[in-house]
Amino acid sequence: MKAIQVGLLGIGTVGSGTFNVLKRNQEEIKRRAGRGIEITMVADLDVARAQGIVGPGVKVVNDARAVIANPEIDIVVELIGGYGIAKQLVLEAIAAGKHVVTANKALLAVHGTEIFAAASAKGVMVAFEAAVAGGIPIIKALREGLTANRIQWIAGIINGTTNFILSEMRDKGLDFDVVLKEAQRLGYAEADPTFDIEGVDAAHKATILCSIAFGIPVQFDKAYVEGITKLAAQDIRYAEQLGYRIKLLGITKRTAKGIELRVHPSLVPAKRLLANVEGAMNAVVVNGDAVGTTLYYGKGAGAEPTASAVIADLVDIARLHTADPQNRVPHLAFQPDAMSTVPVLPMSEVVTSYYLRLRVADEAGVLAKVTGILAEAGISIDAVLQREADEVGGEGSTQTDLIILTHDAREGTMNDALAKLQALKTVLAPIVRIRKEELAG
Ligand code: HSE
Repeated sequence: MKAIQVGLLGIGTVGSGTFNVLKRNQEEIKRRAGRGIEITMVADLDVARAQGIVGPGVKVVNDARAVIANPEIDIVVELIGGYGIAKQLVLEAIAAGKHVVTANKALLAVHGTEIFAAASAKGVMVAFEAAVAGGIPIIKALREGLTANRIQWIAGIINGTTNFILSEMRDKGLDFDVVLKEAQRLGYAEADPTFDIEGVDAAHKATILCSIAFGIPVQFDKAYVEGITKLAAQDIRYAEQLGYRIKLLGITKRTAKGIELRVHPSLVPAKRLLANVEGAMNAVVVNGDAVGTTLYYGKGAGAEPTASAVIADLVDIARLHTADPQNRVPHLAFQPDAMSTVPVLPMSEVVTSYYLRLRVADEAGVLAKVTGILAEAGISIDAVLQREADEVGGEGSTQTDLIILTHDAREGTMNDALAKLQALKTVLAPIVRIRKEELAG
């Protein structure tokens, strides 16, 4: 059978990786797919560089639309990124009847509803395994492997840059700014790291996982997003003393009131496997009612790990493109006419537990006032750690750190209590609040 013909839009790190792995493993991949898969055309603004990567046998152009217009091309792989021209090209490829493979989480988290609707109307597939957690086949696991389950919650380390930074902060006791510079020097963080360190990249991925887990439309605008830029080395240290590690988690959870969708730093018990995922690695924990808790671990970025996911999608399309579109795996795991309207909850309705650090005057009655405000709000304390004033502020210090772990409370209730605590004269600095996830069962 004739090889399926693939056109790449953009050949940077992931594109080169895809070309190389496809070439290196072509026989193995053909045995699995039932036919060859060949990249026969590439569009890239730097034609000479692109031609150097793929060699003379592959046609290279500087116009992506020439790839989309080529009737020989069966699958278009979009590796441009962003919501701008990438969106236009993906929609044009769909309109031209091409199947699409993309690693573009930003595009799908924001415009997924429009893109999947266009693809369904045209009877083509849009595959996106590479968009979440790079080489980890988490989309496949959720959409197919766990299809029997009512998913309860997902918690993932789905941004390698921030996990690298947090690991370094903990290992070396360094502050965020210092580690960020080091991460940029080593190539773990981009020159403009905003999307990673502010949690946006993780929120794009969590948005996609949320939709697939619960069968609701992608709703990035409803995600709560908080990055790691304000984390202090001393909170990582205090968390450690209490038996926790701090990780940037993407969390989505089913509750009686609606769906939680949030990205923020979280204390995780040090004994959990997720707490021990270090460096730039990714890991996703999925809890389903039948299977219980499952863990998926691996490289979330990089040329060949991401290529592994892109090629898995190419193989899926090679196997399924002749199938009746009704009988393919739905884009968001649930049939388009069976999507749920359960709302994504505002952050004020989320229920979780908390780590609080209060810089307080070291004088009589302070602890009683603080615990009194929490008690009035119905917030139950799980543990309290008070440092010696000398240790916190040097010899003769009159200030100390009061660290409180709470049991579950509604975020809105906690916000009100924090405002009251902050107004106390004996609370001397902005209160640090970090959410805590036990991730039990
Ligand atoms: N910038 C991402 C990360 C990789 O640091 O994990 C691509 O999603």
